[in-house]
Amino acid sequence: MIRIEEIHKSFNGFPVLKGVSFEVKKGEILALIGGSGKGKSVILKHVVGLITPDQGHVYIDGKDIGHLKGKELEELRSRFGFLFQGGALFSSLTVFDNLAFPLREKTNLKEEEIRDRVLQELDQVGLAGAENKFPAELSGGMLKRTAFARALVTKPEIILFDEPTTGLDPVIAHTILDLVKSVHQHRGFTAIIVSHELSRLFQIAQKVAMLHEGVILTIGTPDEFLSSDNPVVRQFVSGSLEGPIKLY
Ligand SMILES: Nc1ncnc2c1ncn2[C@@H]1O[C@H](COP(=O)(O)OP(=O)(O)OP(=O)(O)O)[C@@H](O)[C@H]1O
Ligand SMILES: [Mg+2]
Repeated sequence: MIRIEEIHKSFNGFPVLKGVSFEVKKGEILALIGGSGKGKSVILKHVVGLITPDQGHVYIDGKDIGHLKGKELEELRSRFGFLFQGGALFSSLTVFDNLAFPLREKTNLKEEEIRDRVLQELDQVGLAGAENKFPAELSGGMLKRTAFARALVTKPEIILFDEPTTGLDPVIAHTILDLVKSVHQHRGFTAIIVSHELSRLFQIAQKVAMLHEGVILTIGTPDEFLSSDNPVVRQFVSGSLEGPIKLY
């Protein structure tokens, strides 16, 4: 369903991605892990066509999205839900209207149906009663949960989650990841999740890919990953200061 082929991307002459390739099959959840600032968010932005690669291709259902323009690109994007790392809520809209926005834009649902859908989605993430608040009135965790609910509200086929639980307290973080799992079981979307919460992540993902030094160093099932004897993988999983991963 999603196929990334040999993507290269540099910013200001500094190479970030140096030939990234991987595939996510329909219905699969892929966990994308790797050190901070190494290009995980940049990869997700390539998948929805927000960033174009210097070299390489992104295929969705076999179609090279590099060739899509205007309406076609819009159509493709409407199949996606995207939880941006920073939330990316509209600051001038209430929580309710932030969630209603993609439904009003992309569907023909009646205002009543939109209301039901939005309230149900907010209830799922524990934000019932917060619908009339503006983003500036929310805590960091509430912002994150609103962004999460907005990524799900259109019931998209493909969802990209960029650190959905970072900054949340452990209970809410687990609730969110459990919610990903249960919604996945019910609706069967395809997803890429970037997260540092490895233990929970490995319970919900069918595959794990590790980005290291601009390429996908390993990709495999969570079990394969945990039993890997690659020293970089072992150091990353254990969080050890000793090993081949350089901080600077
Ligand atoms: N639009 C941009 N313009 C210039 N540089 C960028 C741009 N987007 C990302 N970068 C650079 O690309 C590198 C990778 O950034 P990215 O946000 O993908 O990291 P990340 O792996 O998601 O890190 P984190 O775990 O901290 O979120 C960083 O050095 C960043 O400064
Ligand atoms: Mg990031």
